[in-house]
Amino acid sequence: MQKKILLRDDEMPRQWYNVVPDIPGGLKPPLDPETKQPMGPEKLSAVFPMGLLAQEMSQDRFIDIPEEVLEIYKIWRPSPLVRATNLEKALGTKAKIYFKNEGVSPVGSHKANSAVPQAYYNMKEGVKRITTETGAGQWGCALSFATSKFGIDCKVYMVRVSYDQKPYRKSMMHTYGAEIVASPSSETNIGRKILAEFPDTPGSLGIAISEALEDAFGRDDTKYALGSVLNHVILHQSIIGLEAKKQMEMAGDYPDVVIGCCGGGSNFAGIASPFIPDYLEGRKIRFVGVEPASCPSLTMGKLAYDFGDVAQTTPLLYMYTLGHDFIPPGIHAGGLRYHGMSPIVSALVREKIIEPMSVHQLECFEAGVLFAKTEGIIPAPETCHAVRAAIIEATRDLNDPKTILFNFSGHGLIDMASYDKFYSGELQNYEYPAEALAKSMANLPQI
Ligand SMILES: Cc1ncc(COP(=O)(O)O)c(C=O)c1O
Repeated sequence: MQKKILLRDDEMPRQWYNVVPDIPGGLKPPLDPETKQPMGPEKLSAVFPMGLLAQEMSQDRFIDIPEEVLEIYKIWRPSPLVRATNLEKALGTKAKIYFKNEGVSPVGSHKANSAVPQAYYNMKEGVKRITTETGAGQWGCALSFATSKFGIDCKVYMVRVSYDQKPYRKSMMHTYGAEIVASPSSETNIGRKILAEFPDTPGSLGIAISEALEDAFGRDDTKYALGSVLNHVILHQSIIGLEAKKQMEMAGDYPDVVIGCCGGGSNFAGIASPFIPDYLEGRKIRFVGVEPASCPSLTMGKLAYDFGDVAQTTPLLYMYTLGHDFIPPGIHAGGLRYHGMSPIVSALVREKIIEPMSVHQLECFEAGVLFAKTEGIIPAPETCHAVRAAIIEATRDLNDPKTILFNFSGHGLIDMASYDKFYSGELQNYEYPAEALAKSMANLPQI
C-alpha cells in the first residue's frame, strides 16, 4: 500500500474552485457599516486591490491561477496526501485516515496558499506596503514571505498573547523583512483606546484587524490583507481540496468524512469545498468543522450580520458570530481565537451541509502528541483540533470503519512552548464563556 500519494508539479491544479455559486440559498451580501446597505467594490477598493475584489464577488466556479503564483506554489505544492497508517494502528481502528500535509509550506501552514496570490494581486496594482493582523503568527509569516517575493513592505499587528508565546514567529517574520508590533499597540487610535481601558488585555484578532485597517486607511501607499474569512481567501485555499481529490482517486478511495479545524474557516473550506459538488449530486459525505469549545462561534454563536473587527470598521458580514467585541480566552491555538466565521462556512452550516464540532484544548494536545508519536510530525495547536476530530470519527464505531480525510493545516515546530505548558500541567480547559458571550451578543448591530 502506498503511504504517501504525491502529484507531480505539472499535475498541480491550474484553476481555483469557487464554491459560492454552488451554495444552496446563496450568500447574503456584505453591508456598508455606515448605511447598512449592500456594499459594492468601490468603497472596499480603499483597502483591497481590484483583482482580489473581483474574486470576492465572483460567481464563476473556476478561476485561473496566475502563472507567477503557480511558480511560487511549486516551492512546496502539490503537497503530499498521507495515509496515517501508524495512527490507525495505534487506535486499533479499521478506519482509513488520510491527511493532507499543508505543513510542508515554507512557513509551515496552509496560510501561504492565500498569501502568495494576495501579494501578487497587490503587486500588479502597484501597492508598495501591506498591513495585516496575525493570531498564531502563521498568517503573518505567510504574508511576510509572500510580500518578500514581490518586493512589497509588510507590517504585521500580532495578537499580544501570541506575540508573547511565540517569539520565533517574530524571528521568522523579521527574516522575511516584515515589521511586527504587538496588538493592541500604541501606534493606532483604536490600540491606544483599548490599552487605556484594558492594559493587560491578551488582545484578539478582532482588535488586530482594527489596527491593521486603521493603518491602511491612513496611508495612500498601503493596502490591507486578511488571512481568512473572506471569499477570495477560501477560493485560494481550494487548491488543497482540488489536489486531495486527485490524490484520493489515485489511492482508489473516496472520503466518507472530511475534517478541518476552523478559525476563520479558510483551511477547512479549502479542503472541503471541492467535494461539495459531489455532495450536491447525492454522494454521501460528511463535512466536519472543528472549533475550540472556548471560542465556539459555530456551535454557540448566532447567525447574524456582524463586524469582523472590534472597532466596527469592516463591512458587516452575515456569519456565525460570538459578537465583535468578544475576547476569547488565551488558548494556545491562537489561530482559532476569532469571534466570527467565514460567510461561506456559515452558509454551509446553515444549510446543514457542514456539521460543527467543538473540542477542548487538553484533548487536542493529547491527540497532537499521539499523532507526533505515531506519524512523526508535531501538529500546530490549531491542527490538533482536526487531529482530535479525526480520532473521534475513526473510533466512533469500530464495526463501521470509515474513510476519513483531514487537513493537516500546519506543523507545530514553532509552538513547542505551548506543548511544554501542556506537559507541565499549566494548560487548562476553558468552559463555555457564557457571561462574556451574553455581554458581547447584546452588542450585535441591529439590522
Ligand atoms: C496552523 C493553522 N491552522 C488553522 C488556522 C485557522 O485558520 P483558518 O480557519 O482560516 O484556516 C490557523 C490560523 O492561524 C493556523 O495557523
